[in-house]
Amino acid sequence: MSYPDPRGEIFIDPTAYADQERWHGVAAELRAQAPVLRVEQEGYTPFWAVTRYEDVFFVSRNNEQFLNTRNSVLGPDAQLELLNTLGIEPKTLIHMDGVEHHDHRGLANAWFRPRSVAQRQAGIDAIAEDFVAKFRDLGGNCDFAQEIAVPYTLRVIMSIFGVPEEDEPTMLRLTQGLFGAADPEYLGDLSDPFAMIVDTIGQFDDYFQALADERRAHPTDDLATVIANGQVGGCPMDHHATLWYFTIVATAGHDTTSFALSGGLEALLRHPDQVMALQADPGLIVNAVDEMIRWTSPVRHFLRYLTEPATLSGVEIPAGDRMLLSYPSANRDETIFDGPMEFSVSRPNANRLIAFGGGEHFCLGSTFARRELRTLLPKLFAAVETIELDGEPQWAQANFVGGVKHLPVAATFR
Ligand code: HEM
Repeated sequence: MSYPDPRGEIFIDPTAYADQERWHGVAAELRAQAPVLRVEQEGYTPFWAVTRYEDVFFVSRNNEQFLNTRNSVLGPDAQLELLNTLGIEPKTLIHMDGVEHHDHRGLANAWFRPRSVAQRQAGIDAIAEDFVAKFRDLGGNCDFAQEIAVPYTLRVIMSIFGVPEEDEPTMLRLTQGLFGAADPEYLGDLSDPFAMIVDTIGQFDDYFQALADERRAHPTDDLATVIANGQVGGCPMDHHATLWYFTIVATAGHDTTSFALSGGLEALLRHPDQVMALQADPGLIVNAVDEMIRWTSPVRHFLRYLTEPATLSGVEIPAGDRMLLSYPSANRDETIFDGPMEFSVSRPNANRLIAFGGGEHFCLGSTFARRELRTLLPKLFAAVETIELDGEPQWAQANFVGGVKHLPVAATFR
C-alpha cells in the first residue's frame, strides 16, 4: 500500500462530514479496499483509521491492548502542544484507563443504570410534553433541531445534573464552544477555533468551580452533589478530575442526543411510510430509536493507542501507534447490516448499533439517550396530523460530535 491515501481526509476535515452522501461513499470504499488505513496529514501525528464493524468492536472491547490515554480526540498537534503549554490537560473518563477509569466511572455509574433511568420516566415525560406543547405553540413551523431537539435534550440532562434552567443557555453556548468550534456558525466573534476551545474550557472551569463549592456547602440529591463530593479510592476526587467530570456530563449528555434526535427525525421525514408505520404501531419506537442512532452516529470517532503490536483486517500495526475508531462507518458495515445505506425502523438487528462504543468505555448515558428519544417521538407523532420537511436540513461542520444542526419542519395538529 502506498501512503498517503487522500481518502483519509474524511476523518479530519470537519466539512467532509457535512456532505453525508459523499462521506459514506468514501467510507464504504475504505471498508472494502483499505479497512485499516494509515492516515498521514501535515500537522497531525499519523493514525490508522478503522472502518469495519468487527475491528471497531474488537478494539473497543480490548481495553488493555488498546488504551485511551490523554489525546482521545483527534486534533492538530500544534493545538495539543499549545494546550500543554497552557497547562490544560483534559482528564475525563474518556482520558483514563484501568483502575483509575474504573474507580472514577463508579462514582456516577448508579445514576445511569437502566433502573435509575427508568425511575426518572415521569420527569422525562413532563419535559417531553412541555416541548410538544412548545411545538404546537410555534404553529408546527420551526427549526426542529434548534427549537426542540437541542433545548429538550439539554433540559433532561440538566434536570438530573442540577444545573438550574436559567443557566441552560450558558451550558449550550459552552458545549458548542467545545464541540462545534470548527463550525463558522458557532465561532462568534472569535476567528480561531482553538482560541474558542481555550476560552470555553476557562469558562466551564469557572462555572463548575462555583457549582462544586455550592454543592459541598449545601449538598442536595442531584448528580452535581455526587460529583462535587465524590470519593475515589477512599479519597476526595482531585480538583482537576472533578471539573472535567462536570464538563463531560454537561457536554456529552446533550449534544450527542440532540443530533440523534434531529438527524433521526430528518431520516423519518424522508420516509413518510415509516412515520405511518410508527403511528400505527407505537411499539416499533424502541427499534426505530436504535435505527436513528445507528443512522446518525453523532460521535464520529475516538482514538485508541496500541500497547503491543496488533493485526486488524490483515494489517499489522506497531505498538505505540494510534487508531481512530470510525463509528459512523462501522454502523454502515454491510457485513453486519443488510442494506446499510437504507433507513428502516423495522431493521431486525438495529440494536447491534455501535454508536455508543463498547468495552469499559461504553457510553455511560446510552440508556438516557435512548429513553429521551423513545419518550419524545411517540408524543410528537400522537400530536401531529402531518409533519414534513420545510426546507433543506443543514449539517454541522465537526469531525468529533455532529449531525443535523438546522431542521426546518412544518406540521399540522390533530
Ligand atoms: C445518542 C447519544 C449518544 C451517543 C451516540 C454517545 C456516544 C458515546 C461514545 C461513542 C462513547 C465512547 C465509547 C467508547 O469509547 O467505547 C461515549 C462515552 C460516554 N458518554 Fe455517551 N453518547 C450519547 C449520549 C450520552 C449521554 C446522554 C450521556 C449522559 C451524561 C453520555 C455520557 C457519556 C460519558 C460520561 C462517556 C464516557 C464513558 C467512559 O469513558 O467510561 N453520553 N458516548
